[in-house]
Amino acid sequence: MNYPEPEPLIFEHSKPGRMAVTLPDSDVDAPSLEECIPASMLREEPADLPEVGQLDLVRHFVRLSQMNMSVDTHFYPLGSCTMKYNPKVNDWAAALPGMSRVHPYQPDETLQGAFELLYSLEEILAAVSGFDAISLQPAAGAHGEFLGLLLIRSYHKHHEPEGQRLEILIPDSAHGTNPASAALCGFKSVQVNSNEFGFVDLDDLGSKLGPQTAGMMITNPNTLGLFDQNIIKAAEMIHKTGGLLYMDGANFNAIVGQCRPAEFGIDVMHFNLHKTFSTPHGGGGPGAGPVGVVSRLEPFLPIPRVVKEDGAYRLDSDRPLTVGRVRSFLGNFGILVRAYTYIMMHGPEGIRRISENAVLNANYIMAKLKGAYDLPYDVPCMHECVFSADRQAKKGVRALEIAKRLLDLGFHAPTIYFPMIVHEALMIEPTETESKETLDKFIEAMLQIAREVEENPAAFQNLPKNMPVGRLDEVKAARELQLCWRV
Ligand SMILES: Cc1ncc(COP(=O)(O)O)c(C=O)c1O
Repeated sequence: MNYPEPEPLIFEHSKPGRMAVTLPDSDVDAPSLEECIPASMLREEPADLPEVGQLDLVRHFVRLSQMNMSVDTHFYPLGSCTMKYNPKVNDWAAALPGMSRVHPYQPDETLQGAFELLYSLEEILAAVSGFDAISLQPAAGAHGEFLGLLLIRSYHKHHEPEGQRLEILIPDSAHGTNPASAALCGFKSVQVNSNEFGFVDLDDLGSKLGPQTAGMMITNPNTLGLFDQNIIKAAEMIHKTGGLLYMDGANFNAIVGQCRPAEFGIDVMHFNLHKTFSTPHGGGGPGAGPVGVVSRLEPFLPIPRVVKEDGAYRLDSDRPLTVGRVRSFLGNFGILVRAYTYIMMHGPEGIRRISENAVLNANYIMAKLKGAYDLPYDVPCMHECVFSADRQAKKGVRALEIAKRLLDLGFHAPTIYFPMIVHEALMIEPTETESKETLDKFIEAMLQIAREVEENPAAFQNLPKNMPVGRLDEVKAARELQLCWRV
């Protein structure tokens, strides 16, 4: 990649009087601005906005977009994020007028198609997970966690009004959103250690369980890319003390079509549709993090719920134990349409192949890079593999430098320094959508980097060199923020 010149800011393209679109005069007899807004609240000078023609505007943003790495342009093995390809057919379906132009305030009779889609998506998610009921409302994985914990809290409040179940147990390998969600719900997080195999340490779990335990949040497969083989035992222990077991199902793409979490003791779980069913990530949203529950938690699910009666669908809000609403309307409908499309395009066999190929691809990379990088948990992995750059760090090249060198070689970097229980972690998640040729090119780049570290570690200083923006001073970037183009 060569980026000859930095792209000027949109303000620097500005020329007085230029416009990207010309709007027709209003033909509505509307009150003037001054009649609508009190004079004291009106600005005295026009806003200092860029004035650019449409072509300059389009070129500016297209150029900027081409400087970025994206799944559509580069291999993107960002561990834990599942940056898989989003087939364009998903967008086609979501843009159909019947999907994109429906309005949640339309009468129910005119929303039957949308309701049917939501209802059958719930049925499909229930079928692949084993849960009795699903809520499609949460707008992201972390939002799903929040709802799942609200359900646990409501369940305990209902069954033990005087109880003091205020603790949520969370393994040390958990995603950062887990303790954050627990705190938001008013729980105290209590850490459970992993054993030498990367699974929940059952002795440690036993020592932390008690009448104060509301439940446990476990990610499975966990952030080490391993399926926790202690899950059934852990579920039994938690249920015995009256707690509930939450599964962070963000990594469901590794097991979809192979096993069903409700059958190994999970009471409540969220799915990350953007990770398993190929809906866009989009910088934190809009996404969708549906939640599945076993029957004893169903009464607490958010309202409204889509129900089917006498062949017709309607919204039902008459649920006395509900936690209430967690999202306006019915969730991020466009995202749900995309996930539904992906599922329908694949069919049951194709869904099973998602997890088979995600796991195969990660194990292929793990096997090929094993000799060149340290592998703290040397067992077959699920959908991602976690190396340590300890060996390279001893030569002065840390995981961060390896990540930067990858950018120069044309690959998005893997996740680094996470999970935190792996020193100098390099967390690689290839996803099921990549070809063997792409994986081979990435493997070759990683092997080349390992050789370069041996031969000339000094060359890793101040990378990247070929990107539009070089190494930033991270302290300055945080402390001397420049948010305005004219200071
Ligand atoms: C294991 C795990 N849990 C939770 C989340 C949070 O999901 P979201 O970013 O949709 O809030 C992620 C995100 O990728 C994740 O990897």
